[in-house]
This record gives sequence, structure tokens and C-alpha cells, in this order.
Amino acid sequence: MKNKNMFAANLQAVFEGYMDKEEILQLIEVPKQRDHGDLAFPCFTMAQHLRKSPGLIARQAAESMNKESFEKVEAVGPYVNVFLNKQQTANEVIGEIFDKQQDYGASVAGQGEVITIDMSSPNIAKPFSLGHLRSTVIGNSLALLAEKRGYTAVRINHLGDWGTQFGKLIAAYKRWGSKEQVSRDPIKELLALYVRFHHESEAFPELIEEGREWFKKLEDGDSEALQLWKWFREESLQEFNKIYELLGVYFDSTEGEAFFNDKMERIVDVLSAKNLLSKSAGAQVVQLIEAGMPPCLIKKSDGATLYATRDLAAAVYRKERYHFAKSLYVVGNEQSLHFNQLSAVLKKMGYSWWKDIRHISFGMVLKDGKKLSTRKGKVVLLEEVLKESMELASKNIEAKNPDLADKQSVAKSVGVGAVVFHDLKNHRNNDIEFSLKDMLRVEGETGPYVQYTYARACSLLRKGNFQLTGETLVCEEEAWPVVKVLAEFPNTINKAAENDDPSKIAKYVIDLAQEFNKFYANKRILEEGKHKYSRLSLTYAASVVLKEGLRLLGVDSPPEM
Ligand code: ARG
Repeated sequence: MKNKNMFAANLQAVFEGYMDKEEILQLIEVPKQRDHGDLAFPCFTMAQHLRKSPGLIARQAAESMNKESFEKVEAVGPYVNVFLNKQQTANEVIGEIFDKQQDYGASVAGQGEVITIDMSSPNIAKPFSLGHLRSTVIGNSLALLAEKRGYTAVRINHLGDWGTQFGKLIAAYKRWGSKEQVSRDPIKELLALYVRFHHESEAFPELIEEGREWFKKLEDGDSEALQLWKWFREESLQEFNKIYELLGVYFDSTEGEAFFNDKMERIVDVLSAKNLLSKSAGAQVVQLIEAGMPPCLIKKSDGATLYATRDLAAAVYRKERYHFAKSLYVVGNEQSLHFNQLSAVLKKMGYSWWKDIRHISFGMVLKDGKKLSTRKGKVVLLEEVLKESMELASKNIEAKNPDLADKQSVAKSVGVGAVVFHDLKNHRNNDIEFSLKDMLRVEGETGPYVQYTYARACSLLRKGNFQLTGETLVCEEEAWPVVKVLAEFPNTINKAAENDDPSKIAKYVIDLAQEFNKFYANKRILEEGKHKYSRLSLTYAASVVLKEGLRLLGVDSPPEM
């Protein structure tokens, strides 16, 4: 924000030789109490430099600072507080939003650089879990944020499409499966086969051997095994695509684990050439004692490669193919050790870019405080969850606004948006409680609340027949809090992106919606008179930023609800 820069520049002139502008900018805060001004500088660090009391320094700085561009400058305890010039700031901020429209807050920080984002990555023949939903929506928002800052985002769906479980699945299908049943409801049927396999193999251990043989055939390229595997993969992907379509998420690559089958030998060769492999109970491992981690398994005793080996191959492949500046993996907390090992092994292999690999971890989804589990058939099918949410949204529309045009598409935007927003509004590392009712509330900190506020703003603009004329705006006392939040959007985007934290954007749009609704409650926006243009301009600016904020979360904003 320009004002913050100006404040920092003025302070720098006062503290010449002790602090540079960057340091000062880092320290400037927004006071918690509104009557303490718009920006505050704490003098504790300067007090250490000068060996004087912070209070004294605050008073002296407030005295000698250039005050021209501010409404008021004062010392309060150890702080220098400034009050911005409301009229000037409102015209600057809203003017910038008028100019840039949806590009407000965009930057070129990442121009020419690529960020790869490993996201979603569900497992073939298994239900798409709420954990995969988290990965999908967090990853998508990080991609949108990266693009907003000028990076090229590469969305990668690292499908779990290889492993011994496919041998078991083929064995189960050969024994009990039917083509018709699988085609009718692929994920449900394949899961049932898998569960049955586990169940029956307790009584008939020979099944395990059968599963192993089928996997061996699959690895050796047996045509029947391969055909079944391909079919399971395709059917599953089609099911997943329904979810991606609802969420409005697409991928640049769906190269899953199987894609790396022929790319692992090279990794094993490098590891062995660098003397990094050792034997442990017949398996080949990389020891990570010095990094304080258990060994990373590279090859099992029967020669089969593992999840970690595939990820090593995938990491190298991504570096060579995309030349990423950063490579993110949006995967649950429970895989932290795996990703720490991945980085540690890449480092040992001598890849300087091991530092650019980042595990974006997240917490679990709970229902009534308990973990949702896919085992024992107790599955929550995401598609059903989204459908239920859309149905509830649709009922709300029927009750409140039955004449709305395009009801179905609004119900989709609201129903899906509610689930996505709920996922993103808390810091990703927190566990989240899953309750559709809470997500869909129109009051409180929900997606529909923000969407509703956006629709309200659109309706005001339509009724007021708002047209941009560019005349000078008057900033009323009640408009000021809205202007201040609007001014913080670019900064919030940068912070959200730098910390890989979409919740900063979710909290921001809630804040903006709340401030705008207070303004709406206090002022008759459509009243004819000298304030009408300024009030509608503020409404317009808020609508642009609400819409763009929701977009960065992957949430739609229907203009009518
Ligand atoms: N398929 C895995 C799972 O569902 C997640 C894969 C994450 N990505 C990766 N490159 N390891 O647990």
C-alpha cells in the first residue's frame, strides 16, 4: 500500500543510519483499536539502538516526522500512530480498482517462473476421499494465487494408479467380478471387490499369493492384466472427472505413479553410483541417520519398487520437464515423513534444487470430532456430499427466491462454493469439522455469506444504474473501514501466496463482506443526492474485490442469489 510506503519513508528519514526502509516496513502494524489511527510503528527496536525509552522515541519521532501527507500523527505510548488522509486514500484505492478491475492485486513477482503443484492425486479404484478434496481445493487455490503473481502454475494429478493392490483387485475381479456391475458403478463395485478380497483372504491365505501373482503379471506386461488395469483406471478417472467438473478444477498432467515405471531404474542407478544404497532385511534403502530419519525404502526384497522410488523419479522428471522454481506437494499431514525423506534423498543425490521441494501439509476432516475412515466400507462419497450440498442450496433458493433465473446453476455455485470455502477458511494444518448445515449458513463466516454479499452489491449497482464517470469521490466516515480493507487486498494476496495459505484470502473476503454490510446497514446507498455516486463507487469496488477474492479460492460468485 502506498500509504504504508510513505509512512516508512518518513520514519526512515527520522531514523537515518539506524534502520532501513525494509526493516521499518516489516514493523509497521495496523492498530487493533480504530481510534489509534490507521497505521502504527512500534519503537522497541529503535529503543535498543538508541538506548532510550520507546515512549520517548515515539514522541520525538512524531514531533520531527514530515506530517504533510497525513491527517494526524501522534505518539501513543511506545507507538507512532498515523491517521491517513481519507479522501485522498479513498480516491487512490478505488481509482486503482476501477483501472485494474479483476487485475487489482496482480503482480509480476513470478514472471517467467514455474511452480508445479502436485494436488488431488486420488487412488484408482478407491473412493475420492474428503482428504483428496482438501488437496484439490488447497492446490487449486495455490495455483490461482501463483498465477495472480505472474507464475506459470502446472497442476499435476499424481494418480495412485500402481502398486500391489492392483494385483489383489484383478484377482478379486477374476473370482467375483462382473463387467456390467463395474461399469454401472465403478468405484463402489471395485471397492467392494477389494474389501471382499481382504475379508476372504483372512480365511483363505492362498488368495494373497494369487494377488501377488497378478501383480507380477501386471509388472511383466501381461496383456490381460494390463487391459483390466487400464479399464479400472479409465473408469475411475471418469468418476473423478465428475468431481473436478463440479469444482471447476483442471489438470495439466494426470501422469500418475504408473507413468514412472520405466523412469525408476535411472534413479536406482544414480543412488548406487553414489554409493547411497544399503541392504536392510533384504531390501535396498537409503540411510538417513544423519538427518534423524528412518531409512527410505527404495526396493523391496522381491525387487518391487515403492511409492518413494516413484516420487524420486517424479521429482527429477518434473525438474527436467518444467524447470520449476518451486515444486509443491499438497498432501495430508500423515505423509510428512515421506516428503522429508524425499527431500533428504534428493539432497544426498546432489540435486541443489532439493530445497525447492515443499510439502504443503493439511489436517484431517472430522465428523463429530472423529476421523472419517474409508476402511470397512464406512465411506463418505464426495460426489454424494457435493450433491447433497447442492440440493440444500437449491431448497434455500426455492424458499427465498423462487423466481430466480438459472436456479440450477446458482444452486451448484452455492452448494459447491460452501464446501470449498469451508475447507479453505481455516489454516490448512487445522483439522476441519464437516457439517453441511454450518457450511451453508448465509450468516456467519461462510461461502454463501460472501456470495450473498457480492450478489447484494450487484443488485445495488443494477438498481442504481451505476456508471463509471471518474468524478472525485467523497469518503464518508462509514466508508473508511471498507476502503481500508480494499487497500489491503494486494498485500493479502502476497502473504497468502508466500505462506501457501489460502485461508488468508478466505478471512479477507469475510472481513470485506462484513465491513461492506455494516456500510450498507448504515447508509442508504441508492438515495439520490451528493453521496450517491461515491457510495455506489465503493459498492462497485467492493464487488470487484469480493468476486476476485472468491475466484482465488476457486469459488463462483453468481450475480444474483
Ligand atoms: N495417492 C496418494 C494418496 O492418496 C497421494 C499422492 C500424493 N502425491 C505424491 N507425489 N506422493 O495418499
